[in-house]
Amino acid sequence: MIVKRIGVLTSGGDAPGMSAAIRAVVRAGLSYGLEVYAIYNGYLGMYEGNIERLYRKSVSDKTRIGGTFLGTARLPEFKEESVREVAIENLKHYDIDAVVCIGGDGTYRGALGLHEMGIPTVGIPGTIDNDISGTEFTIGFDTALNTAVECVDKLRDTSASHRRCSIIEVMGRNCGDLAVWTAIATGAEYVVCKETGLDMEDLLNTINKSALSKNHAIIIVAENMVDINYLAKEVSEKTPFQARTSVLGHIQRGGKPSARDRVMAGEMGVKAVEALIEGQSGVCVCIQDGKICTRPIKEALQDKSSVIKDKYKVFSRLG
Ligand code: F6P
Repeated sequence: MIVKRIGVLTSGGDAPGMSAAIRAVVRAGLSYGLEVYAIYNGYLGMYEGNIERLYRKSVSDKTRIGGTFLGTARLPEFKEESVREVAIENLKHYDIDAVVCIGGDGTYRGALGLHEMGIPTVGIPGTIDNDISGTEFTIGFDTALNTAVECVDKLRDTSASHRRCSIIEVMGRNCGDLAVWTAIATGAEYVVCKETGLDMEDLLNTINKSALSKNHAIIIVAENMVDINYLAKEVSEKTPFQARTSVLGHIQRGGKPSARDRVMAGEMGVKAVEALIEGQSGVCVCIQDGKICTRPIKEALQDKSSVIKDKYKVFSRLG
């Protein structure tokens, strides 16, 4: 099929750099002579028919903005074929031949569902979690990491002044990348994430050991791992440090994208459009050995926990 009109959407949790990726899809599409349509608020907009044609000017000045200017949503119902049928009817109404879907694993599952119903789709990895297998980076991870590092650096100042232990929870859903990379970048004493598990005895031993030579400690905890208030109680009772907790939360999703995320968004947007023109579908864009390529979405939805173990090995040598 010759692709003439493409749609673009962002879905799931927003990530810095998504807007730059939309811009790249629009500009690349126009440069190849395609018409490009915005699908607002992710799959919800596809279901509701919230669709509008985009022009060159529609995406001016969008590279540097945070969030996604198309809006986003989580729509678990999109896994139902009857919901996708309504969405596909809306695409047909606008003669949209193919769709670029920017987001994380939920977005990819939606793209796969459309592909299996005959709509060509290409995914672009946009999530701060860096939890898509087969791509070294997802758009937004670098910015979120920098935000987390900046926050932890600030917490270190107060933690050291008061001779305390700061326990900081970072996002990542079920993936420890944000936690482990933050721990390496901030020189933290300990990191807890799904891939490492929680060994309370080892944690307390490590903090007690570091108390012999340092006046403070930093523990980075990935979300969904442990109640950090309970952890703080244990540290306060069983080490020389009084512990304080901070949950960084959604602040990690905001802000202007880093230069690295902007560049990757540009490269991935162009690649997604070229993949659709070449007739690819049910694939996603990824970065492997620094090169932009595509691979089947099905493979990208596999577990990536083996990758983080290498980074954790680095962390464990830096204590
Ligand atoms: O997937 C991105 C993410 O920020 C995760 O790190 C986090 O678990 C989740 O989204 C939070 O989702 P919501 O904004 O819907 O609460």
